[in-house]
Amino acid sequence: MAAMRQSESLDARFYQAAGQFFPANNKLALTFDDVTLATLYSEILPRDTQLDTQLAENLRLNIPIISSDMDTVTESRMAIAMAANGGLGLIHYNMPERQQLSEVSRVKNHVHGLIQEPIQVAPDQLIGDVLALIEQKKFGFSTFPVVDDKGKLVGLLSGHVVKPRYAKRKVADALTPRAQVHTITQKELGKDPIARADKFFNEHLGIHKLLVVDDKDNLRGLFTMSDIERITQERNAQFKPARDARFHLICGAAVSATRNAFGELDRERILNHVGALVERGVDVVAVSTAHGHSRGVGDTVRVLRGAFPKLPIIAGNVTGAAGVEYLAECGANAIKVGQGPGSICTTRIVAGVGIPQMTALYVCSRAAAKKKVSILADGGIVKSGDIVKALTLSQAVICGGIFAGCNEAPGDVMEIGGKLYKQYRGMGSIAAMKSGSAARYGQPANPTQKVAAEGIEALKEACGSVDRVLAQLIGGIQSGMGYLGAANLAQLRDKARYIRVSPAGMREAAPHDVVELKTGS
Ligand code: XMP
Repeated sequence: MAAMRQSESLDARFYQAAGQFFPANNKLALTFDDVTLATLYSEILPRDTQLDTQLAENLRLNIPIISSDMDTVTESRMAIAMAANGGLGLIHYNMPERQQLSEVSRVKNHVHGLIQEPIQVAPDQLIGDVLALIEQKKFGFSTFPVVDDKGKLVGLLSGHVVKPRYAKRKVADALTPRAQVHTITQKELGKDPIARADKFFNEHLGIHKLLVVDDKDNLRGLFTMSDIERITQERNAQFKPARDARFHLICGAAVSATRNAFGELDRERILNHVGALVERGVDVVAVSTAHGHSRGVGDTVRVLRGAFPKLPIIAGNVTGAAGVEYLAECGANAIKVGQGPGSICTTRIVAGVGIPQMTALYVCSRAAAKKKVSILADGGIVKSGDIVKALTLSQAVICGGIFAGCNEAPGDVMEIGGKLYKQYRGMGSIAAMKSGSAARYGQPANPTQKVAAEGIEALKEACGSVDRVLAQLIGGIQSGMGYLGAANLAQLRDKARYIRVSPAGMREAAPHDVVELKTGS
């Protein structure tokens, strides 16, 4: 073997592989900003890098990004957007079980490009009411299907007439009548609804909306030409939607280690609910709690593994090797790593526990490799560079705050001082625990102000669509991989070399000594 060149051995003394670097820094817990990655000789262009990741035998993503199971982050809209971009959304469990089933069904039945529950108006509403609705919900469109109280299509209210000058007119007087509205039946959509809609728009010059109805003329959906054009272009995109074997978008759901009135694990209820989720086509369940290395979580995973041998199971959260081994032995395929790094978390302050992410990820990654399970870096990610660092030790990341300001996150946009925001709260905040997440933090089901909250309620600036946010994040990940000469995520894990960063180094890393005119985002 050729002798190592002097310059390379010099690099190796300073920039160390994980197996050297983290044990050498074992007296100090490190997080993302405490380390930086050394660049390496590269023949890899960022745009040629592959981001697919295998989380379990039956669970593969095309990008290594998952949206958190939080009630201000992931319901069906977010899960659809995540899977459509190649990632995964975990539907939260702060809702009645039946509702969670419907949310999962919405994702599994989603036809890309077809708006299945279009916003509709009634014939007896005033145009002024419609204008108020647009203002209140900050809709970026003003054409609406008009439907009677039985769900039957009555006509289409065109954006041309939704004007303040017609505010006092009734929708019924302004609509384009049913006979003149272009529709297609569900049956006519066939196997490739997008191609069908695309053909329709080609054949109907100047028509931008196509409504979908059932045999009884009830409204069942809406195609818009701009969506279809975007999707047709996206078919050539590098990162394909994450789909199951039947070509449906994939979807995850979080479940808790539910207890009965006697404080025992409610095996029957957990099994019934997960059985119903599986019937709806759920691709993975996440047993989500703040302390995964605990009997309740272990027993829940064991029960689920016994009943559903092939179902991918995520479990957590842990920050140590023993926790990873325990959950892997109970039957989990992917382990969530993160205790207290989240942007809305106060676990470290309130309970004095938790480990900064990079050290936690290193320790957990070693145990995970032995047990042949994957690990997911959960929480604390605020920029794409953090994701690159996290992916040097994990198979995927879970993000809450980054997505909470997106259009697809639950909740309304609110305007404060001329800026637009959305609510973002910790699942351990008092408000979220009152809505059902108390068990996740080992608290009683109806918490009062006396229990210790481990999360805060906050706002995130509205940040547009998930597509846009993910495009930025993916661009950053690919750029990081290019710098390391990594063609795929396995190579990224293999090639990463780390060094500590001083506080002055951190200052140097961000824009400094300039008057910023335009942010990078
Ligand atoms: P980010 O940083 O992406 O973190 O906003 C999201 C992750 O934080 C966790 N989480 C909490 N942790 N108290 C905590 O200590 C909480 O109230 C809380 N709520 C969520 C969770 O792992 C999520 O994915």
